[in-house]
Amino acid sequence: MYTRKEKIAKQLTTLVAVTLGGTTTFAGLSIWNGNEKFYRDYVMPLTRRLDPETSHRLAMFAMKHCLIRRELKPDPGSLATRLWDLNFSNPIGMAAGFDKQAEAMHGLHRTGFGFVEIGSVTPQPQEGNKKPRVFRLEEDNAIINRYGFNSDGHEAVYGRVQQEREKQDRAIIGVNLGKNKVSSMSDAENYVTGVEKFGAIADYLVINISSPNTPGLRGLQQKAELENLISLVLEARNKLVTARLPPLLVKIAPDLSEHEKKDIANVILKEKCRVDGIIVCNTTTSRPLDLKSQCKDEIGGLSGQPLKDISTRCIRDFYRLTKGQIPIIGVGGVASGQDAYEKISAGATLVQLYTSFAFQGPPVVRRIKRELDEILRSKGYQNVAEAIGKST
Ligand SMILES: Cc1cc2nc3c(=O)[nH]c(=O)nc-3n(C[C@H](O)[C@H](O)[C@H](O)COP(=O)(O)O)c2cc1C
Repeated sequence: MYTRKEKIAKQLTTLVAVTLGGTTTFAGLSIWNGNEKFYRDYVMPLTRRLDPETSHRLAMFAMKHCLIRRELKPDPGSLATRLWDLNFSNPIGMAAGFDKQAEAMHGLHRTGFGFVEIGSVTPQPQEGNKKPRVFRLEEDNAIINRYGFNSDGHEAVYGRVQQEREKQDRAIIGVNLGKNKVSSMSDAENYVTGVEKFGAIADYLVINISSPNTPGLRGLQQKAELENLISLVLEARNKLVTARLPPLLVKIAPDLSEHEKKDIANVILKEKCRVDGIIVCNTTTSRPLDLKSQCKDEIGGLSGQPLKDISTRCIRDFYRLTKGQIPIIGVGGVASGQDAYEKISAGATLVQLYTSFAFQGPPVVRRIKRELDEILRSKGYQNVAEAIGKST
């Protein structure tokens, strides 16, 4: 027989156990299901208590181990996009920098991204800059980073991409190539070895000449340097002995003068430098005057909302300068269906994001796709391709 006190204690213990169990199960299911409100109100505020690099590692862990449910709803037909010889079920991709080492391609694909760009990957492994090297600008919905290409190097990353390609339901994978900070090879050779290494297994390749955190890298966007670099890299791509030659893209910075933009457009329109696409754009070294966050003056590249309109203008400029002849992947500050639509109507065929995922978590992908589909239908478009460049 229990005494009255013991009975109360037992009942209390049961109550606490049931409440805790129920809460844990509810939280677990909400995370697994990608419940938007739960992420906004609980998960993301909690992750923001960690320093940004640790919270990124946590997100990578969740993606790598597929701790988020697969998006079961098929993408609306309006978002189906064909570019090069690839069929994208939707045009929203994860931008380079989130999965630098190619560890979470499958998890990101399951979350509902139409494609995943891994890297930047450098030929040899390198550690990147010393920490802290990434800063969250809470009040501005932005990030400043100066990672400086921390990379496991070609060899390790290659093995992981190869494994992903063997899967049945696999991600469309872009491989973003960077260069080592210290190298015995020339700049062009850094990229040429990347093309040779990943040419047969990448769905597309990107020459990243626009990260602000590797000394001298952005100088490769200058006319003569660019012409030399692209012609050498394209020559290497064309010499590949493989069943399919991967499309080759260049990723450019937003911090270019009108003159520099014209030069770049003229170079990539030349036959020997005719790339298959451009990614517009990387992070900016500029600091808009209305930034509010304390760490706004940290050195590095700024991404997220303050980059949004800068990037959209840049897309519109390149669409006009290249007469719509070179496909554009638009990236910078995309956090809603309207943002994605603006990039597309400025001239982008595909769209990428990074910072809004860091702030809002996986539900942002589903929401952007839903909103984009609604916008397209409200404007009478059957397919997203019809909206490309319509606001130029
Ligand atoms: C933390 C961080 C790391 C990044 N690393 C890379 C990188 O390694 N290579 C690259 O081409 N872009 C990199 N980017 C740039 C993104 O791919 C993207 O161009 C930029 O962040 C703008 O998009 P967003 O505003 O949606 O973040 C990085 C961005 C962030 C925030």
